[in-house]
Amino acid sequence: KRHLISAADLTRDDALLVLDTAEEMARVADRPIKKLPTLRGRTVVNLFFEDSTRTRISFEAAAKRLSADVINFSAKGSSVSKGESLKDTALTLEAMGADAVVIRHHSSGAPHRLAGSGWINASVVNAGDGTHEHPTQALLDALTMRRHLSAPGRDLAGRRITIVGDVLHSRVARSNVLLLTTLGAEVTLVAPPTLLPIGVEQWPCTVSYDLDAVLTTSDAVMMLRVQRERMNAAFFPTEREYARRYGLDGLRMAALPEHAIVMHPGPMNRGMEITAEVADSPRCTAVEQVANGVSTRMAVLYLLLGGSEPALAGARPEPA
Ligand code: CP
Repeated sequence: KRHLISAADLTRDDALLVLDTAEEMARVADRPIKKLPTLRGRTVVNLFFEDSTRTRISFEAAAKRLSADVINFSAKGSSVSKGESLKDTALTLEAMGADAVVIRHHSSGAPHRLAGSGWINASVVNAGDGTHEHPTQALLDALTMRRHLSAPGRDLAGRRITIVGDVLHSRVARSNVLLLTTLGAEVTLVAPPTLLPIGVEQWPCTVSYDLDAVLTTSDAVMMLRVQRERMNAAFFPTEREYARRYGLDGLRMAALPEHAIVMHPGPMNRGMEITAEVADSPRCTAVEQVANGVSTRMAVLYLLLGGSEPALAGARPEPA
C-alpha cells in the first residue's frame, strides 16, 4: 500500500508528478461535467478527529469527482466520544472496505501509526496531525506558487518564500518548508522567538525576526494563523502587539515586489496576522488555494488508488 504521511516522503519527481497531475485534474473541473470514472467502486473514508472546513470538504469533493464512494466520519457524534480507540475505529473502517483513509487527528503521528498498524489495508493520507504535518496543504500551496511564480512542469528553484507567524504550532509551516526546499525554493521563517519550535535551526531554511527586512525580496509571503487553541494563555501575545510586529497590512503589502503573492492556508484571524484589506485584495490567493486543494487532492487520491505510477512513498518504518 502507498501512503502520504509526510512531505519529506516526496522526492522532487514525486512532487512534480502530483503537481502535474493536479493541473490535469483542474482541467476536469473546467468541464461542464466535472466527474471522472477513475475511482468507481473504491471507498474513501474521511476520518476527522479535529475540526476542518477546507480540507474535509475538498477531500470529499475530490473523491466524488473521481467517482469514489465517500464516507465522512467525524469524531464528534461518533463512538470516539464513548472512549473508542483509534484501533477499534480503524477495524470498523476496515470492515466497511475502505480503500483510502484520509485522517486528521489532534495527535502528531496518528496517521503514521495508522499506516504502520496492520489494522487496515487502506492507503492512509495525512490531512493534518497535531502540530506535525499537513502534506496536501503544502502540495496545494506549491501548485498555487508555481502558477504565479514559475511555469507548468517546472519546480520553484530560486523562488524566495517567506512564512510568517505561529510556526511553533503550524503543521502547514513544517510541511511547506520540507516540500518547498525539495522543489528548490529558499524559505525564510519570520516569527517571534516564543513561536518558533525547538530545533528550528536544523530545518532547511533561514530564520528572521524582522518582517519588514525580508518583504522586499519575497516572491510569496505566507501568513500563518495564530493558533490560540493550542496556546497556553500566559504565552499568548496581545493582538495589537502581534499585529504591529508580525501582521500583514496594506503598507507592508505595498513593500512586496510587484509580482509577489500573499498566501494564507485558512482559517484566517482577520485583524491579527492579516488585515481585511490584505485578505480581500487581488494579491491574496487564499480562495485560489482552496480551489487548488480540490485538484491537488484529486491527484493524490488518483496516484495512490488509481494511477499506475509508483508516485508516492510508502509509510516510513516504525521508529525503533
Ligand atoms: N487549511 C486547512 O487545513 O483548513 P481547515 O482546517 O479548514 O481544513
